[in-house]
Amino acid sequence: MSKNVLVIGGAGYIGSHTCKKLQQLGYTPIVYDNLVHGHKSSVKWGPIEVGDLLDFDRLSEVFGKYKPISIIHFAAYAYVGESVLDPSKYYRNNVVGSLNLLDAMRVNKIKSLIFSSSCATYGIPTRVPITEDAPQIPINPYGTTKLTVEKMINDFSHAYDLDCVVLRYFNAAGADLDGEIGENHLPETHVIPLILQTALKKREHFYIFGNDYDTPDGTCIRDYVHVEDLAQAHISSLKYLEGGGSSTQYNIGNGSGYSVRELVTEAERVTQEEISLVIAERRVGDPAILISDSQKIKNELGWQPEYSDINTILETSWRWQKGLI
Ligand code: UFG
Repeated sequence: MSKNVLVIGGAGYIGSHTCKKLQQLGYTPIVYDNLVHGHKSSVKWGPIEVGDLLDFDRLSEVFGKYKPISIIHFAAYAYVGESVLDPSKYYRNNVVGSLNLLDAMRVNKIKSLIFSSSCATYGIPTRVPITEDAPQIPINPYGTTKLTVEKMINDFSHAYDLDCVVLRYFNAAGADLDGEIGENHLPETHVIPLILQTALKKREHFYIFGNDYDTPDGTCIRDYVHVEDLAQAHISSLKYLEGGGSSTQYNIGNGSGYSVRELVTEAERVTQEEISLVIAERRVGDPAILISDSQKIKNELGWQPEYSDINTILETSWRWQKGLI
């Protein structure tokens, strides 16, 4: 009998790629999504139950119907800028919603959880690459909501015998290798889609947010990890929990950094298009450099990034962006 896994936020970017992998490996991904930012068209590998994280009764009903062996919780608002302007929205959805989920799990005796956290919980790192035991001092409400949920999970783990893997993603990028799904945020704020949409002339210019950072070319450096590799990290975590693993946290990145300027150069090579650049002000809340040390998950779960070279990231994104209307 196929094992049900409840994927909260499974109609979103990383969630949908994880559903595809789950189904390929013989699990049944049940998507629970309010479709505020998710796309119904990205749910192709199992049923969808439309519902909100804040709706306790609906969550309990879905738990009862499918009896999932585990829950993968992707659902969150994730616009850093918006979180600064409207923190209430972020605390309610990301924190109160997750508390609701944890309580519903407790009441329904579901004990296995994989949670999407973020490198945004580290704030401005004192050391790069960043290891899991680095200080977590977020510098925006989005990062604080993720850290707060991590702390709730930690307390619930001890008190109620919950086993949870927290995955702290660095910069998710790329699209499905078969071209079936990809990144489709509305509005789009992420660097690679914006660069590629400029190459497609859907946007007049690409704006570089600051060229006076303390980095070799003055632009911010990030660790881009392919969404397929991220999806695989969830599978490895699920198997770990199925095997009786206890609560832990892992950084998920590829361990090397690209500056915004380097991304543009690479994108011009891959697309064979010229990308019109404008140097703009720094964006509030952007650390200069974020690079992951992901040795812990490599050592403990045998995870390895396979598709996170910049070429595969840009080529899969480019194919996806060309197909978007
Ligand atoms: N950037 C530009 N111009 C743009 C957009 C982005 O120069 O038009 C730069 C940013 O300043 C940053 C880099 O490109 O230096 C990457 O920016 P993204 O917005 O693509 O991603 P972030 O680094 O801001 O990602 C952060 C956290 C994630 C979190 C995500 C939420 O690192 O953990 O925000 O969307 F999930």
